[in-house]
Amino acid sequence: MENWSIGFVGAGVMAETMVQGLLAEGVAPGRIVASHRRAERVAELAALGIRATLDNREAAGADVVVISVKPQTLLGVLAGISGAIRPDALVVSIVAGARVRVLQTTTGHDRIVRCMPNLPCRIRRGMTVWSASAPVTAEDRARVAAILGVMGKHIEVEDEGHVDRATAVNGTGPAIVAHFVKAFIEAAGYIGEPRGVARETVLETLLGTAEMIRQNEGHIAELIDEVTSPGGTTSRALQVLKNGRFSAVLTESVDAAYQRTRELGDVLEAAAGPGLTQPR
Ligand SMILES: NC(=O)c1ccc[n+]([C@@H]2O[C@H](COP(=O)([O-])OP(=O)(O)OC[C@H]3O[C@@H](n4cnc5c(N)ncnc54)[C@H](OP(=O)(O)O)[C@@H]3O)[C@@H](O)[C@H]2O)c1
Repeated sequence: MENWSIGFVGAGVMAETMVQGLLAEGVAPGRIVASHRRAERVAELAALGIRATLDNREAAGADVVVISVKPQTLLGVLAGISGAIRPDALVVSIVAGARVRVLQTTTGHDRIVRCMPNLPCRIRRGMTVWSASAPVTAEDRARVAAILGVMGKHIEVEDEGHVDRATAVNGTGPAIVAHFVKAFIEAAGYIGEPRGVARETVLETLLGTAEMIRQNEGHIAELIDEVTSPGGTTSRALQVLKNGRFSAVLTESVDAAYQRTRELGDVLEAAAGPGLTQPR
C-alpha cells in the first residue's frame, strides 16, 4: 500500500477491528491515528502502537478519514470536526444507516465512501460491502480496495441501498451465525456430546459445509437432497426445523435488522435538516 495515513474518528469495537487488520497486514502503526472521547480508551489504543488522541480533529486530519461512531452520536461528532477534514482527503463511513448525501451535507465533503464491514475483519476474514459517491476517483477506489482487502473480501456496489441490506446480512451476520453455532453446540450437549467434542464437530461441520457450498455450482437444495434419505435421520431433523418455522424466523430476523437500518437512516436524514443535498 502507498504511504497515506488513516484516521479513525471514534475508535470503539469496529475501528479497533479494522486497526488490528491493518497492523496484521504490516501497515506501519505510525500511519494510523485514532481518536476517542475517553482517556482510558486512548491509552488502550496507544498500547496498539498507533497514534491515539482525545482530539477527533487530529484523526480527521488524515489522508483517509474513517468515521466509526454510532449513528446516534454521528451528527454531533461531525459538527465537532467541521473544517478539520482536508479537501483532498477521502471520507469513509462505517456508520450503520448513514446515507451518502447525509454524510456529504454534514461534512461539506463530496468524496464519500459508505461501507459496511463486519467483525471477522479482525482475523482478516471480513466481508465488506461499499458504495462510493460519484466524485470518488479511481485512485480513491483503489485505496479503499487496498484497505478493505487487508481485512478480507469486499464488494463495491453502485446502489447504496445494498449497503443497507449488507448491514442486515454481513454486519449483523456474525451475531446471527454465532447465535446459531451456540444453539447447535447446546443441542449437541443436550443429546450427550461432551462440550469439547460438540464445539469441534459443530464448527468443522459449519466450515466444511460452507466451503462445500462455495465450491459447488449447483443449487444448495441438491446438497441437502444428497444427505437426506427417505425415512432417515436428516429427514426427521429437517421436518422439525420446518415445523419450527426456522427459515421464516431467519427471514424475519434479517428483515428486522434491515428495517432498523432504514429507520436509523431516516432519523439521520431528518436531523441533518432541510439543507440536504442530492448525492453528488
Ligand atoms: N460492531 C460491528 O460489528 C459493526 C460492524 C459494521 C459496522 N459497524 C458500525 O460501526 C460504528 C461503530 O460501531 P462499534 O460497534 O465500533 O461501536 P462502539 O464500540 O460503541 O464504537 C464507537 C466509539 O465511539 C466513541 N465515541 C462516542 N462519542 C464520541 C465522541 N464524541 N468522540 C470520540 N469518540 C466517541 C464511543 O465511546 P464510548 O465507549 O465512550 O461510548 C465508542 O467507543 C457504528 O456506526 C456501527 O453501525 C459496527
